[in-house]
Amino acid sequence: MRIAATADLHFTPARFSALHDQLNRVRDESDVFVLAGDLTNFGKPEEMEPLLNVLVRLRLPTIVVLGNHDYESGREADLMRMMTQEGIKVLDGSAYERDGVGFAGTKGFVGGFGRGVLTAFGEAEIKAFVRAGMDGALKLERAMSQLRTKKRVIILHYSPIAATVEGEAHEIYPFLGTSRLAEVIDRHGADLVLHGHAHTGKCDGKTPAGIPVHNVAITLLQSQNPPGLYRVFDV
Ligand SMILES: [Fe+2]
Ligand SMILES: [Fe+2]
Repeated sequence: MRIAATADLHFTPARFSALHDQLNRVRDESDVFVLAGDLTNFGKPEEMEPLLNVLVRLRLPTIVVLGNHDYESGREADLMRMMTQEGIKVLDGSAYERDGVGFAGTKGFVGGFGRGVLTAFGEAEIKAFVRAGMDGALKLERAMSQLRTKKRVIILHYSPIAATVEGEAHEIYPFLGTSRLAEVIDRHGADLVLHGHAHTGKCDGKTPAGIPVHNVAITLLQSQNPPGLYRVFDV
């Protein structure tokens, strides 16, 4: 299966025509289209509508997770409903199987990497923040435990490893993802992990167990040589 993946479109109506033309080729180059969050800029249904127009016209099975920007207006449930109604598979701690390939997806959350992972100690506010990160990992766990396929693809918005956020300012690493997600991935096993959010991170990395992780933020893909709007993976 050829999986075309991108993330962080931050779609606004002004970007409509540019994307529409350039995305036309994706149907010939892939079997499935994955969008790893930050589909909209402010999480408004008015932004989702023109994006849906583009996506529906691709006539390609599409699997998405939401990103933090899609939560900005508190309309995430509306956005999910709009996409689901158009046949787009929205993963939120859930799994989806297609042609023998299993997809498990969730937004994930922040919290830091490795020795820098924030722990639930001290103030109630810290504990609530850490709990949100743990909940993100639990959602991924729930999604992955539903997979019955040999081939398994993980879709996140936040990064599960530090390697693919390298290039961003060190000070913001803890806000780009958390290795709590990688722990779950390594425990259950997967063939491919896709994420976005780190707009100027690095394309490729691996979990501690060696599972390939790819940052498909569109700004990052556009900065490569040759520049692209998406990247195609074979599983
Ligand atoms: Fe983004
Ligand atoms: Fe983001």
